[in-house]
Amino acid sequence: RVDDNGDLKALIRTIPDFPKPGIQFRDITTLLLDPVGLARCVERMVAATEGPIDLVAGIEARGFLFAAALAVPLKAGVLLIRKDGKLPGATIAEDYALEYGQDRIAMHADACAPGARVLLIDDLIATGGTARAAVRLLRKAGASVAQAQFLVDLPDLGGAALLRDDGVVVHALVS
Ligand code: PRP
Ligand code: HPA
Repeated sequence: RVDDNGDLKALIRTIPDFPKPGIQFRDITTLLLDPVGLARCVERMVAATEGPIDLVAGIEARGFLFAAALAVPLKAGVLLIRKDGKLPGATIAEDYALEYGQDRIAMHADACAPGARVLLIDDLIATGGTARAAVRLLRKAGASVAQAQFLVDLPDLGGAALLRDDGVVVHALVS
């Protein structure tokens, strides 16, 4: 268990060769199991948030966990960014590149009012493909996306730097 000064990094384990040989997978499920570690994450993300927020946008699937936990203390709503084909109402979508091929994320077209101040949340940023597509999508919907937060940044993969180039203030708890 983490104490008050505990290192969140120690609660994240690395699984070798998942999902493919050669990938060192940073697994946050062990941090989620720890009540103190989880609370620390939420507190630190709330403290790092600048200014009023109308909506916290969470990216499927692990981003949802943190989006809801932050939205309550920030007095904001939760906006779901999902893999395409999962949302029941009229959606707008955005494609992004994967290592092999493409994927598509979507949100409800009427989920945010023009100018809504949106904080983007996910558990982890790697290449940034997912988060950058989410920012494009939210901006297409008229949102103002000035900040994004992640539990983990994998800086060698460069995603956070690219997201900053998109004009987003990026904050991560663990690098
Ligand atoms: C992981 C992670 C981010 C994304 C980061 O999600 O939760 O959403 O990959 O990678 P990127 O910065 O290179 O785009 P995953 O695709 O594993 O989906 P899941 O959360 O639904 O399992
Ligand atoms: N852990 C969790 N999600 C990920 C990772 C990882 O190491 N790399 C890309 N998405």
